[in-house]
Amino acid sequence: MPKPLHNLQHVHGSDPAEVLFSPLSLPGGAVLRNRVAKASMEENLAAPGQIPDHRLRKLYRGWAAGGAGLLITGNVMVDARAMTGPAGVVLDARAPLQPFAAWAAAARSGGAAAWMQLNHPGRQVRADLGGVAWSPSGVPISGAGGFARPVAMDDDDLRAVIAMFATSAARAIEAGFTGVQIHAAHGYLLSQFLSPLANRRTDRWGGPIERRARLLIEIVRAVRAAMPAHAALGVKLNTADFQRGGFRQQDAVRVVELLGEHPVDLVELSGGSAERPVMHGAGLDESTRAREAYFLDLAHEIVAASPVPVMLTGGIRTVEGAREVLRAGVAVVGVATALAQRPALPRDWFHGRPGPAPLPASSAADKATASAAKQAAVRWILRRTAARGVAPETADPDAALRLDARRRARLLRRYRDWLARHTSSRNG
Ligand SMILES: Cc1cc2nc3c(=O)[nH]c(=O)nc-3n(C[C@H](O)[C@H](O)[C@H](O)COP(=O)(O)O)c2cc1C
Repeated sequence: MPKPLHNLQHVHGSDPAEVLFSPLSLPGGAVLRNRVAKASMEENLAAPGQIPDHRLRKLYRGWAAGGAGLLITGNVMVDARAMTGPAGVVLDARAPLQPFAAWAAAARSGGAAAWMQLNHPGRQVRADLGGVAWSPSGVPISGAGGFARPVAMDDDDLRAVIAMFATSAARAIEAGFTGVQIHAAHGYLLSQFLSPLANRRTDRWGGPIERRARLLIEIVRAVRAAMPAHAALGVKLNTADFQRGGFRQQDAVRVVELLGEHPVDLVELSGGSAERPVMHGAGLDESTRAREAYFLDLAHEIVAASPVPVMLTGGIRTVEGAREVLRAGVAVVGVATALAQRPALPRDWFHGRPGPAPLPASSAADKATASAAKQAAVRWILRRTAARGVAPETADPDAALRLDARRRARLLRRYRDWLARHTSSRNG
């Protein structure tokens, strides 16, 4: 097993290559040993009972040894009835804590900070999961099929979801994670509240951006109050939704200003949603994809306005790409796909070794299928790594998508059976 890379933090200077491997003190006092973060990737590897097991531990031990300064888990659900997929992990008030403690220990085993990403998918819940698709206003998802009919949330639902995030955050820290990240990007519940297209409310939770951001801010407040002071708090936010009339860059500027009024340690910037999956590169023009750092242009203004350190994720694969991001004033470079392909990518960057080649493109003509196939390829890599301890650097997206469909059918039955027991024992 390789030794933890404490040497990744020894150099400091104005050269972005050196800055990349220099420590970062976050506003709340936590220190990241370098500026490379593993961005969140839903692993789809929950054991029966929607809990982590040896596979997730193996996966995170690999990343822990790979030299990143921060590891953010795949999104963990705060509500068992609202899942992004049937093999998602749930950390609600009833989940047993020990499996999460073992997961946190694996993630921390190399000296990196380990944050759990917490998510409520809102209306982005597939109908076949049999759950509940909460949403700001009951507006259905456009242009993408298979989602459950959204239900507009009332005040009790809003209070409930705030409490769920706080409970999950407190339990994540109790399990040993060093921080949590609230997912407010990619079209999930908090991103829906931020979007004028999905949020048509006329009460205090809708209207101008300050009111559309209220649910996120209330959750930040409740999560902060539920955690000990040493725990770090991050938020993942879209630079934009890339939809006419949707959440815009100016909105993101305002939201980071609002977040700056609270003890938030890091804002990660991404983009897109189920309606416009640009976070996976789909639908972006060729020059943007070729340049790496898809959202860098949009991030400039947000970084300039942000009182909170910013992490930027999306398309970053090379050390040159990472340096360019730092030059723009970004504090932390977020990497997802390339770190799935090469868990020791930070170590390789440090030693001047090239990273993995991009994954092959899907043959699917439509953007949504191509994007799903890319994600399926990454998930296939994660599953293989979790089983064998060695990451395959490439995968066939079309074959991975077909495999995913078969695996999903089996896991769907398992999840639905579990949900019926989980919710009936809660009520009984
Ligand atoms: C398989 C897969 C699962 C993902 N799951 C999540 C997730 O749970 N939460 C999240 O915020 N982003 C998730 N993402 C998006 C990544 O964090 C990241 O924003 C996106 O992949 C772009 O970065 P990359 O080009 O380095 O992969 C996922 C991406 C992939 C490929």
